[in-house]
Order: sequence, then C-alpha cells, then structure tokens
Amino acid sequence: MLQFRSVFRRFASSQAIRFKEYGAPSVVLKRESIELPKSLGDSQVLVRMVAAPINPADLNAVQGNYGIKTSAFPATAGNEGVGIVEKVGSLVKTLKAGDVVIPTKPGLGTWAQHLVASADSLDALPFGKDFPVEYAATLSVNPCTAYRLLSDFASLSKGDVVIQNAANSTVGLSVIQIAKARGIRTINVVRNRPNYEQTVDALKALGADVVVHEEFFASHEMKKILAELPAAKVAFDAVGGPSATNLSRALGDNGSLVTYGGLGRQGVTIPTSSLIFKNISVKGFWMSRWYNSHSADDRRKMQSEVAEMVKKGQLKLALERVKFADFSAALEKSQTGFRGRKVLLTFE
Ligand SMILES: NC(=O)c1ccc[n+]([C@@H]2O[C@H](COP(=O)([O-])OP(=O)(O)OC[C@H]3O[C@@H](n4cnc5c(N)ncnc54)[C@H](OP(=O)(O)O)[C@@H]3O)[C@@H](O)[C@H]2O)c1
Repeated sequence: MLQFRSVFRRFASSQAIRFKEYGAPSVVLKRESIELPKSLGDSQVLVRMVAAPINPADLNAVQGNYGIKTSAFPATAGNEGVGIVEKVGSLVKTLKAGDVVIPTKPGLGTWAQHLVASADSLDALPFGKDFPVEYAATLSVNPCTAYRLLSDFASLSKGDVVIQNAANSTVGLSVIQIAKARGIRTINVVRNRPNYEQTVDALKALGADVVVHEEFFASHEMKKILAELPAAKVAFDAVGGPSATNLSRALGDNGSLVTYGGLGRQGVTIPTSSLIFKNISVKGFWMSRWYNSHSADDRRKMQSEVAEMVKKGQLKLALERVKFADFSAALEKSQTGFRGRKVLLTFE
C-alpha cells in the first residue's frame, strides 16, 4: 500500500485532466499543463494530490449528466481524492502545510497534480496519517454511501435482510461488509459474466449471504431462495430498469426501494400491485445532498466509523492503482465492465 511519507515529492510543473465542454470522457478529457497561482488568496490552500479515484459520477459530470454542473470551462475533472497541503493563505487557521486532506464537497477537480481550493472545502484527514492512502482517497463517497444506505432507510437489526444490485461495485462491496459487521444478511445481484463463479466466491468471502446474477434473480428458482429468508426490508438500486423492478418484487410489506445510481440508464418502474398491496416506498439517495445538509461533526463521525472498520480489517475495497501519466489507460479501464476493481489515479 502507498504510504504518505513515500509520496512527499515536488513537481517541477503541474498537470491536470481538464475538459472544455461536456461530452464523452475519452473525447473531451485532456491532460494539460496548468499554471499554479504565484500567490494564494487569504482563505485558499495549495494541495499536492496523492491519489484520486475514477468514480462513475466523475464521468457523468464530464458528460454533463450529473446533479452538479461545472461552474466554468475549462474545468478540471475529479471529485474525490487525498492530498497534502503545501501552502496556506494568510487567514487559514484550520489547515497547515503538511496536513493530509480530503474534499468536503464535490467539484474541486481532484484529477490534478495540484489544486487550489478554499480551506473550508477540505478536511484534515480525521483518521490519522498512518491510514492507507488508497482508502483515504476513496472513503468519503462509496463506503460512506453504503453506510448511509444501511443506516437511514429502515430500522435494521441482526438477522434482517437487505437486497441490492450492482453488488460488486465499490458501494455494493461496502454494503456487504458493513451489513456483515452489523449482523444484517445480504442478497446480492450482479450482472452475469464470464468469470461469474469467481465473482460469487469473492463476494461470499467478504460476507455476502446470497449472490445471484440478474437472469437467475428473475427466475422461478429464485422464489424458493427468497422464501427461505425473511423478506427484505430495504433494496438498494444502482441500475434501474428491470433490475430495479425485480428488487422491488423481493421486498416485504412496507419495504423501501432506494435508488442511488442509474448505471443501466433506464428509469425505475415499480409494479402497481407492490405499491398498493405491499405499501412499498420508493426513495432516492445522494451522498452530496447528505454532506450539504449535515454538520462537519456528523461527517467526521461517520467517516471515522467507516475508517475504524478499515483499520480493523472489516472493510476491504478492490482498488487498482494507475499512474496519472497513464490517464488514458486508467480511463479505459474504468469504463470496462466485469473488472471488479476501482481505478485509483496515483500522482507519485
Ligand atoms: N447517490 C450517490 O450518492 C452515489 C454515491 C456513490 C456511488 N453512486 C453510484 O453507485 C453506482 C456504483 O458506483 P461505484 O463507484 O461503487 O462503482 P464502481 O466501483 O466504479 O464499479 C462500477 C459498477 O458498475 C457496474 N455496472 C456498470 N455498468 C452497468 C450496467 N449497465 N448495468 C449494471 N451494472 C453496471 C459494474 O458492474 P460489472 O462488474 O458487472 O461491470 C460495477 O459493479 C454508480 O451508479 C454511482 O454513480 C451513487
């Protein structure tokens, strides 16, 4: 694993992945040299980035399909990551040079060797410098989304059952492990694939109770598996379309379907009978909205709890480091299906 002490190095020039208009990421994203400002604003900080993931939402933002629009072009892509403060403006009291920081809000442009941001858009890492760099770079979006999904939509106790699709995504893997730590059982749906058995084994090794592929989930045999378990209280949907419809059918009375992603690019349709006879609720979740509407204490408490799980070995993520210099390869990997690993740009 990368350690922060091994990545304290200076860059002669600074580069960033930028786009001048919305469009296909492989077309509009370019690696460009950027000029760093000679002096910082009073409330600004200069950060040298260490690592940043490529999340689906980053690509949606480049396509112009995200909940937050770019404020001005050219824009630097990337919303999550970890870096080290190099300099602070004269009025900054919350951060100092050498602090390891993560963004508190999206839109900072983290796919860059350096970024300049307002001090209040960054948090000194609330869980210590010995924390693995890869996890510091990726903790605040996906594992925290899983944490909220399991905390905010149903009162879940030991033995209860939740169901999810895109179960091998970073959010899905985090749901499996956080649920396992809380004694909650998971039914996990993935797309069918050439290495399906390997995927089943990997998810079960992390604590998944049931793993099935989409076609099997829609089959008659699946009904027998579901009949042997308590009905799911909540379903987590990142796909939409028929996959979401199938999840909703597996919910018990008064269950909730929570949509947090649109990977299948199809709307969510719930059977009328499920709404009327089972009183199913349909909700949405967006981590950015949660961060905007909660205090810094709430944020740090959640992140520290998730970080504690990492430290105890209860939460593992499948990450693949790719050097910033190889951005095109990193982008291609991040858009290739059935890989099962999140691409993490590293800036050493
Ligand atoms: N609402 C929020 O606040 C929030 C926060 C975090 C993430 N998200 C969303 O959660 C989803 C997962 O994000 P992530 O970062 O965890 O993913 P990730 O680790 O980058 O992995 C991508 C996942 O997407 C799956 N996938 C890609 N295209 C698909 C399709 N057409 N149908 C079904 N599955 C497909 C892949 O499955 P295969 O292995 O089968 O290719 C893989 O599991 C994304 O939609 C993301 O935008 C939302």
